[in-house]
Amino acid sequence: MSRIPGFYQLPIDQRHAILTQKGWLTPDEIATLTGETGLIPSQADHMIENVIGTFALPLGVALNFVINGREVLVPMAVEEPSVVAGASFMAKLARAGGGFTAHTSEPHMIGQIQILDLPEPHTARLQLLENKARLMAELEGLDPVLERFGGGPRDIEVRLIADSPIGSFLVVHLIYDVRDAMGANAVNTACEHLAPVIEEITRGRVHLRILSNLADRRIARARCAIPASALAFGNFSGEQVRDGVIAAWAFAAADPYRAATHNKGIMNGIDPIVIATGNDWRAIEAGAHAYAARSGRYTSLTTWGRGPQGELVGSIEMPLAVGIVGGATKAHPAAKVALKLMGVSTARELAEVIVAVGLAQNLAALRALATEGIQRGHMSLHARQVAVSAGAQGEQVTRIARQMVQEKNINLERARELLGEGK
Ligand code: MEV
Repeated sequence: MSRIPGFYQLPIDQRHAILTQKGWLTPDEIATLTGETGLIPSQADHMIENVIGTFALPLGVALNFVINGREVLVPMAVEEPSVVAGASFMAKLARAGGGFTAHTSEPHMIGQIQILDLPEPHTARLQLLENKARLMAELEGLDPVLERFGGGPRDIEVRLIADSPIGSFLVVHLIYDVRDAMGANAVNTACEHLAPVIEEITRGRVHLRILSNLADRRIARARCAIPASALAFGNFSGEQVRDGVIAAWAFAAADPYRAATHNKGIMNGIDPIVIATGNDWRAIEAGAHAYAARSGRYTSLTTWGRGPQGELVGSIEMPLAVGIVGGATKAHPAAKVALKLMGVSTARELAEVIVAVGLAQNLAALRALATEGIQRGHMSLHARQVAVSAGAQGEQVTRIARQMVQEKNINLERARELLGEGK
């Protein structure tokens, strides 16, 4: 059960106790998350260059999520207040409508091979298509592990870029099934491997050989339907909240300036899980925003509308190239624990959780913006951060933060004053 009432009020060690009692994590796994074990500099030294240490972020757990009928605890590594609380609260509301339904396409990535110096690009394009079987055969056995798990090359497409600053050229798209990997290494290796054969077939010169982060063959989708009655709070009726959310979405759907912020709010839910699981969040960001602009005009990655019973219905669709094998997903000890906590056993399941949380996070932002505004909820957590920056510890943090919120005067100077007074 991902619903744990009062979790947010407990001290950290009692939260740990619940996670171990309920069998979500073992004490050793918890130690990985608290800094007792986990990523040590000598391990980090094997991950990147010139290592001088490691960098920590708060790791929270979003509660209440039901995704495809399964209860999921969601680890989120993020510095921004209100993100974990917002996702958890919306997941609680979504439970009233059965939670989230999510699915993904096959894990197909695109590798790009640019071909220059072609005497006649149209002819070269057809020559490549005529030789598709040969090109595919060339890749056979290149990645035996991936092939053993059912992955490997799926198709070859050839695009003519008719007009560019250097004139026309061709681009081969290699469609590659990467199964449970993020796939960058597999795809880049395959692209580099194909280059000499492509040059032989076309008599051109292969230039770039690299995957595309616009992973539009690897799409994750989620939807939810929330009864209007579940949305009511304070002086706002459920219908008012629902219609307010829909009007807020319409703004993002029609206006790129708003869509950028709207989608940033979605990424508030997505990136923290991508980070916690050791995946490449820059790749996910690049893919999300490129996909949001696929029509030629940048727009919202979500939709919100009114269902036949007056319920609020939401959907999201975006590329999600995440893996559960390879890279930091296995090298980072905390990433392994994050994956275990979610109980996902395939990259597709991971993407389904992530995309559902993105939808929930978007709703959290729109609901707040369409009703009482974003600052009220934000302020108490912001005040806590300011109190901590001023040097407050334990009980002092709550006391000073509460006082600053009451005074509507949240700044470092005031926090320092209050800290001095309390001593
Ligand atoms: C802040 O991190 C995210 C929001 O700006 C998202 C939105 O405006 O939809 C609140």
